[in-house]
Amino acid sequence: MNPNRRHFLRNITAASALVATESIAKPFSIIKDLKKISPNDKIRFATIGMGIQGHSDTKAALRSSPDVEFVAAADLYDGRLTRVKEVFGKDVFTTRDYRQILDRKDIDSVLIVTPDHWHDHITKAALKAGKNVYCEKPMVHHIDEGLSVIDAWKKAGKTMQVGSQRISSAAFKEAKRLFQAGEIGELNYVESNNDRFNAIGAWNYSIPTDASVNTLDWETFLGDAPKTPFDAKRFFRWRNYRDYGTGVAGDLFVHLITGVHFVTNTMGPERIFSSGELSYWKDGRDVPDVLVSILDYPKTDAHPNFQTVLRVNFANAGAIANNTRLIGTEGQIEFTENNLILTKKKLPKAPGFGGYDSYNTFSEAEQKEFKKQYDAQYAEDTRKAEPVKEVRFQAPENDDQHANHFCDFFDNVKKGSLATVEDPIFAFRAAAPVLACNESYFSKKIVNWDPVAMKKKSK
Ligand SMILES: NC(=O)c1ccc[n+]([C@@H]2O[C@H](COP(=O)([O-])OP(=O)(O)OC[C@H]3O[C@@H](n4cnc5c(N)ncnc54)[C@H](O)[C@@H]3O)[C@@H](O)[C@H]2O)c1
Repeated sequence: MNPNRRHFLRNITAASALVATESIAKPFSIIKDLKKISPNDKIRFATIGMGIQGHSDTKAALRSSPDVEFVAAADLYDGRLTRVKEVFGKDVFTTRDYRQILDRKDIDSVLIVTPDHWHDHITKAALKAGKNVYCEKPMVHHIDEGLSVIDAWKKAGKTMQVGSQRISSAAFKEAKRLFQAGEIGELNYVESNNDRFNAIGAWNYSIPTDASVNTLDWETFLGDAPKTPFDAKRFFRWRNYRDYGTGVAGDLFVHLITGVHFVTNTMGPERIFSSGELSYWKDGRDVPDVLVSILDYPKTDAHPNFQTVLRVNFANAGAIANNTRLIGTEGQIEFTENNLILTKKKLPKAPGFGGYDSYNTFSEAEQKEFKKQYDAQYAEDTRKAEPVKEVRFQAPENDDQHANHFCDFFDNVKKGSLATVEDPIFAFRAAAPVLACNESYFSKKIVNWDPVAMKKKSK
């Protein structure tokens, strides 16, 4: 069997199993219209937004299955359309106008890989045009855009996946398995971070020498953002500006929180508070480069109440260890996209005495009496902690989270199913709290959120 095909089939099975466990987090995940696309047909897809991630997504989509074909691309900068033909072949149709792609009946699916401020507009237009949609994270630019995207998805009945591909990695799946098996007891705290220390990591991407209003469509780029004279920095480094991007929260917290939601099956936090600063990259950007947010998750049937602390520091010249730690009453799961360490630790029933303790300050007579009563209360076998256990997991070398995420998408497209691992409801439940992290930072206020109704609350 073709190895690509084997990879595709293996992931179909994994994805189906996952869907069965996702009913709490994904109440609308229903199989709508089985076998919409015949198993013998190729899925023809187009990519809208052929920048850095547009290239990466297109390649991952092609790696995910031999049953897909890349036929068209839209982008606003001509150089990137030229590059599409250089990399993917001269037969790929290219255009500046994404609507020409949505009009084509021979295109089944679109990948939406534009800056964040275009996500909701193109997603809704694509669903209305009958396309299946793979949209990059965060699903929306503003909280108030989320429900209309969900509505458009439900009305269209098409498959939609959002692109936080880490949840399709072997390590994240293993974290979920261990957590759901109760390996760390009662969860009480999560911390997750994504620090960086380099200009490109801080979003100062290279700007082509030919950037001008002649080589790119500046007016369309602005979209629903305020009208501003042409500025190549705004076009090529759009993440630095709130008019088009969502700051470190929308860019990176969303990956962290999506992982936490995937592992814990939570619907989300109810209180969100942030603090941060623009510390180092004072290059005209209007978003912080250091941000810490605290998110309070209420107790639900799926998990106890717990706190999550998220951090990005783009000026971390110290040691960087980006990972997620889930801490419970019997241990912790610490994981990245590639590996995981489960540490199990259980306290003995007996509290112990002596050492750095008030016992030593008691009179001799009181110490004697205290010990007598302690011995009567705690049998020998209640006094020893269980030995600390450590279990390590390393993802297989060929684990391709990005291709896996596309496998899940295309598998559901084939079945005419809405049950992707990161459907718009799951994705909005991750996007809204991180957008609230920004809101809290800029307003210096706590944001209250209803994770079930997916609406902001006044208290
Ligand atoms: N999943 C991930 O790990 C991951 C990684 C990087 C980026 N992303 C997401 O991918 C998206 C794109 O990021 P990027 O780094 O590739 O940005 P980029 O600036 O490199 O590319 C964006 C491209 O979109 C094009 N574009 C803008 N508006 C358009 C429109 N209306 N129609 C057609 N094309 C349009 C621009 O011309 C540009 O070439 C963002 O939403 C980002 O958050 C996700």
